[in-house]
Amino acid sequence: MEPPCVLICQNRTCKKQGAAQVLTALRTLKSPEITIEGCGCLGNCGNGPIVLVLPTRMWYYHVRPQDIPTILTSL
Ligand code: FES
Repeated sequence: MEPPCVLICQNRTCKKQGAAQVLTALRTLKSPEITIEGCGCLGNCGNGPIVLVLPTRMWYYHVRPQDIPTILTSL
């Protein structure tokens, strides 16, 4: 299976909900084989910050920086 890519929406609504801090936590805690990318709107603006993991297409809603260790260990 291809290595995981974690997308974190950085569009306006998710940013207001703390997406920049979630991206910082992802970049700080990730391991080398995981790709982290900020992205545009994922179409779920009311539930942000939104994280989408590829290729499994696992969605995470209302993500907080303290949730990142749990998400990364589940990949
Ligand atoms: S702004 Fe993040 S899903 Fe739309």
